[in-house]
Amino acid sequence: MAPAQDLLQEPLPPRCSGAALIVGATGYIGRFVAEACLDSGLETFILVRPGNACPERAAAVDALRQKGAVVVEEGRKSVEAALRAHGVEVVISVMGGASILDQLGLIKAIRAAGTVKRFLPSEFGHDVDRARPVGAGLRFYEEKRRVRRAAEASGVPYTFICCNSIAGWPYYDSTHPSELPPPLDRFQIYGDGTVRAFFVAGSDIGKFTIKAAYDARSINKIVHFRPACNLLSTNEMASLWESKIGRTLPRVTLSANDLIAMAADGISSRRMIFIIDCIMINCRGHHPREHSRFTDARHLYKRLPDRFPHRRT
Ligand SMILES: NC(=O)c1ccc[n+]([C@@H]2O[C@H](COP(=O)([O-])OP(=O)(O)OC[C@H]3O[C@@H](n4cnc5c(N)ncnc54)[C@H](OP(=O)(O)O)[C@@H]3O)[C@@H](O)[C@H]2O)c1
Repeated sequence: MAPAQDLLQEPLPPRCSGAALIVGATGYIGRFVAEACLDSGLETFILVRPGNACPERAAAVDALRQKGAVVVEEGRKSVEAALRAHGVEVVISVMGGASILDQLGLIKAIRAAGTVKRFLPSEFGHDVDRARPVGAGLRFYEEKRRVRRAAEASGVPYTFICCNSIAGWPYYDSTHPSELPPPLDRFQIYGDGTVRAFFVAGSDIGKFTIKAAYDARSINKIVHFRPACNLLSTNEMASLWESKIGRTLPRVTLSANDLIAMAADGISSRRMIFIIDCIMINCRGHHPREHSRFTDARHLYKRLPDRFPHRRT
């Protein structure tokens, strides 16, 4: 199986090869996307908001700048003017869950600029139109659906990336589970732990997002990342981890009702709803295999690498 690096060396389809603007490049998923964009040799702009003095964020901006990203400071000029001034052809939004509706303004700026040939809104989960959210997470899904409708109505070609779950132990109380190692004390198993979901390494999410963003075949499509050998249940992931650490851990079961009862508005509730939908209810079952707007990165890129989530640990 070819490593993902080789895929970056494949020529990009000719339809669109211009500059990209990443909005949310300092965020968790955004860093993977921005790094992949830079690694693929594309002219990469990152939109950075003023007013966030957090040192980790400043370090993320510096690291991307050192790799070649051009920082566009929001507020200096309008986003529309910046898009036009830099001739940006691809806009990838990786805004966080709390800012999803801010993308409505971004879409207006993209339309007005007239340079953009592709827009990727902040999706990076599973298919929000097909998911069946419950409880407190419903609003989050509705916001993402609203942005989808605005993108569709904008007339600007779009691509919705459904990367499924980022590789890592699916902690219900952490937005970014792959920043944490799997548990060393006990596993929290959701339901009976047998429902399988796709887990994709963050670096592969970045690489295949960039490939899809510049691929004419993914215009106005929902692109799923579903590497076959990363289809795992929580029981299977727990066993994999146990074989790695050489001991077994106790397993505590959490039901969907337990998670709903714990959910309060905020980041963790979004994560809980994602877990219920993806890891307990089996949202994979909601996706018809043949659908004119649905495509799979495995079909677009035959050498999509299969990586186990915890290979690097
Ligand atoms: N599949 C999965 O397992 C998974 C896991 C996590 C997230 N996600 C999804 O991935 C997407 C990104 O989430 P994340 O957790 O990576 O986000 P995050 O870490 O919270 O980062 C959000 C980024 O967006 C920027 N931002 C927010 N509002 C903005 C605005 N109005 N204008 C410009 N920039 C803005 C932030 O900039 P500042 O630095 O200025 O705050 C930051 O760079 C979301 O759609 C989320 O649902 C999926």
